[in-house]
Amino acid sequence: MKTILYYFTGTGNSLAAAKKIALALGETELVPIVSLQDTSGNIVPAAERIGIVAPVYFCGLPLMVAEFAGRLDPAAAEYLFCVMTHGGGGESAALRQLDSIIRKRKGRGLDAGFGIAMPGNYILMYEPLAVEKQREILQKADGVIGDIAGAVGWCEKRTLPSSLIGRVLYSLAYPYFRSHVRDGDKKFTVTEKCTACGTCVAICPSDNIELVNNRPVWKHQCELCCGCIHTCPVQAIQAGPKTESWGRYRNPDVTVADLKAQHGKAPEKQI
Ligand SMILES: Cc1cc2nc3c(=O)[nH]c(=O)nc-3n(C[C@H](O)[C@H](O)[C@H](O)COP(=O)(O)O)c2cc1C
Repeated sequence: MKTILYYFTGTGNSLAAAKKIALALGETELVPIVSLQDTSGNIVPAAERIGIVAPVYFCGLPLMVAEFAGRLDPAAAEYLFCVMTHGGGGESAALRQLDSIIRKRKGRGLDAGFGIAMPGNYILMYEPLAVEKQREILQKADGVIGDIAGAVGWCEKRTLPSSLIGRVLYSLAYPYFRSHVRDGDKKFTVTEKCTACGTCVAICPSDNIELVNNRPVWKHQCELCCGCIHTCPVQAIQAGPKTESWGRYRNPDVTVADLKAQHGKAPEKQI
């Protein structure tokens, strides 16, 4: 059975999960949602099994993923599932948001939805976890990914998880996120450590950064993925004074080249 897995990632968690699920399923194509940004109209996947793997933002979906869901036409698919990676919660509300976007337009929703707890990357709010703690979380996440791959392999239908707290937090936090996300980059600054290497430009999924006078300039079409802050090789990009002394996070199974490939519209190699 052919599978297409659409993914969006800022710091690699969702891509790492997508790659592992793809490996377990076999005959799977990984498609960056970023690569569909320059296209228009319905997205009609040519596969029997369709999956979406993305991070939870403010108990909901990254804007680019919500827009993608609005264009997805999974009518021909036998099985449609979604995996949300998160730093501690909100996945049930995000899954329900995705389900409702697709259901409203196409009359069918998700056959199953899953969450995977992975290290949090929202550096505008908190410091990345110590490496040892990250390892512990990622080890547990690998077990969950294995279970998900098993369920998806059997096209197991599952009722979407539900959480009252998740729903309340979504209704409070997501509208704020939606109206502030694009210029969330106004908090980003760059220090003299910057070497103008262009990594931030190359990995930014929303093409939101350009180098002007050898310094990154943000164009206020941000997804708030925090990839630029976390991936800068000399930690020159900051979001306030605290981040200067904080560590950075990238999923250890994902390379900077993988993040560049998402932006570079080069499809991941087929498995
Ligand atoms: C803007 C933003 C908002 C976030 N909101 C949540 C949230 O509501 N709940 C949560 O558990 N994690 C939240 N996170 C953490 C990410 O969902 C989590 O680290 C995810 O695995 C990152 O995936 P990625 O590495 O594929 O980008 C947020 C991260 C960002 C950047």
